Amino acid sequence: MIYPSFVSPLTSLRVIVAADPAAAAELAATRILTLLHSKPTAALGVATGSTPSPVYRALSRAQLAEPLDLSRARAFALDEYVGIDARLPQSYRSVIDAEVTEPLGFQRSHVSVPDGSAADLAAAARDYEAAIDATGGVDLQILGIGHNGHIGFNEPGSAHDSVTRVVTLTQETRKANARFFDDNIELVPRQAITQGIGTILKARSIVLLAFGAGKAGAVARALEGPIEEASPASALRKHSDVTILLDEAAASMLS
Ligand code: GLP
Repeated sequence: MIYPSFVSPLTSLRVIVAADPAAAAELAATRILTLLHSKPTAALGVATGSTPSPVYRALSRAQLAEPLDLSRARAFALDEYVGIDARLPQSYRSVIDAEVTEPLGFQRSHVSVPDGSAADLAAAARDYEAAIDATGGVDLQILGIGHNGHIGFNEPGSAHDSVTRVVTLTQETRKANARFFDDNIELVPRQAITQGIGTILKARSIVLLAFGAGKAGAVARALEGPIEEASPASALRKHSDVTILLDEAAASMLS
């Protein structure tokens, strides 16, 4: 069962509580397909992590059933670890290739991921921001949220007008992501290149997904707490077109 969407009394965000992650993922996939139908040259902002995976799987099923020509569409990843070999399965380049580029049929040259192994990381970050702007910007940005409220790899304290840059990951984030590195936090990179919060806010539309009780606190703080740098996702309330797709557990701490 899908509950009717509501507009949060504190913000203009649309919040939709779906019965389960699969139902929420279908809604996100439909949004993406509608965009790509109406604008074949659209730029999609793609997140990694467990949360968006069912969205990409739903899109992949739709592509098998009724293929859409994505040869002119573009995708921009949110972030990448610093110092990781892009060929390793844990690199976000590999994740995006496996979950987005290949199954959905994007042209490889149209899918961009920050270069975490560049000799000049600051220049790579600047170039990434410029590349997004040069293509006309992201039409629809898909986001997950970290337990501490991070979006992309913008940890608490990130400026809400920050741009793509090199960041240091918190211990909490490295611990949460150790599950992708044989449960060994020592193997989790300490830095990343991430789109800034200001970069994310330039996207024309944003869809954030969050599932499970573990995300309920971060969701409540983002939607109902103060808009502040300590709460990166709270910055989304400054944007005029944001949809939050939750399962019941992730919505459980909303008043
Ligand atoms: C990582 C990514 C974020 C993602 C977050 C939550 O840190 N950089 O973009 O939103 O993890 O991941 P998950 O969806 O696996 O909980």
